[in-house]
Amino acid sequence: MKKIAVLGCGTVGSGVVEVFYKNRSSIQKKSGCDMDIKYIYLRRAHPELLTQYPDLHLEEKFCFDFDTIANDPEINIVVEVMGGIDPAYHFVKTCLQKGKSVATANKELIANKGAELLSIAKQNHVNILFEASVGGGIPIIRPLHQCLGANEIDDIQGILNGTTNFILTKMIRENMNFADALSLAQKLGYAEADPTADVEGLDACRKICILASLAYGKQINPQWVSCEGISKITAEDVEYAKDWGGVIKLIGKATRDEQTQKIAMMVAPMFVPQESQLSTVDDVFNGILVTGDATGEVLFYGKGAGKLPTASAVMSDVIDCAKATDTIDTLYWEDGDGSELADLSLLPSRFYLRFQMQYSQQLSWLEHSFCHAEFLARKNQPQTEAALVTDSMTPEHLDLLLQSAKKEGITLLSKIVVL
Ligand code: HSE
Repeated sequence: MKKIAVLGCGTVGSGVVEVFYKNRSSIQKKSGCDMDIKYIYLRRAHPELLTQYPDLHLEEKFCFDFDTIANDPEINIVVEVMGGIDPAYHFVKTCLQKGKSVATANKELIANKGAELLSIAKQNHVNILFEASVGGGIPIIRPLHQCLGANEIDDIQGILNGTTNFILTKMIRENMNFADALSLAQKLGYAEADPTADVEGLDACRKICILASLAYGKQINPQWVSCEGISKITAEDVEYAKDWGGVIKLIGKATRDEQTQKIAMMVAPMFVPQESQLSTVDDVFNGILVTGDATGEVLFYGKGAGKLPTASAVMSDVIDCAKATDTIDTLYWEDGDGSELADLSLLPSRFYLRFQMQYSQQLSWLEHSFCHAEFLARKNQPQTEAALVTDSMTPEHLDLLLQSAKKEGITLLSKIVVL
């Protein structure tokens, strides 16, 4: 009999308890052993959980003291669904050092401490698995290091945050304003406790860092990656994107340059053309496009957030922890110092730009300076507004043009990278 402790019982934690007891017999069959949840670690009593699942007598499993769990030799597998670094980092590290495998949904923890925790797991012949940390219920971690293991990964680009995708979809399809769409996402349980992490791109940044660390074998910390959220996106930008033939999506991207082996990474709202498979990934869904040198493009698609999809991914890790007889050695990356990251200011892209002019004649200055650009239009466009998509240029070159525009008295209102 394998005994499990669940650390944290918020949205995902209660989902884990629910999925475990609902599908217990098939989970046990797939694990090849009997299993039960012995402890649910909480910081305070959780009466809602008891009313939600009265038949499970969860009060018998409640535990308010982490050391009881850490020192209980009967506990083989620990599910960490508390989120955040503190105290989750200390708890997870302690459990691994005491020979307990860990299944976690905690992207902040893995994105920042992945290399260290993977190494501790290896030293102790146990596992730290984190399928739920990226893409909610979508299998992506396991495919990346197992099914695509024969590939060199050239590129990963994805819609990695369900909340912002939900918000952008509501803004695009239903003309909903940002605040209403965000509060609906919170009501549906998609958003993080502090929605800044979703809205400002930090959550997506943690997720692309986990994928890139795994694909390229070195720890890539979120602090090293250029990250911008969706809070500055306006209804006007959404309209110009339509005219251009695409949509605005929050994209996390990691691309390895074949010659230099440097990895270009960023998280930002991007103009995504209709032809891209990512342009139709809507609502709370996530889509992750992985390009392997043998497979070509492979798209992973599904619900990227929510109680039961995320719990499903956590439980799949619990099953693998139960089956494993040693550390799964393909799930590993080394510590890194960021030296493999490319300098983005030198990498060419196309850019969508929206300007406020002082008088409509300044349009000819823009047409002359951005002579290869595609100019866009929208309904009720003021005469003093201009929007365009540039040809491919480096951010360094673009900055020079924007400085000149400023000197002409032309104000930049929006700047969005084209995928
Ligand atoms: N807040 C996250 C999202 C939850 O919206 O994608 C899943 O990681």
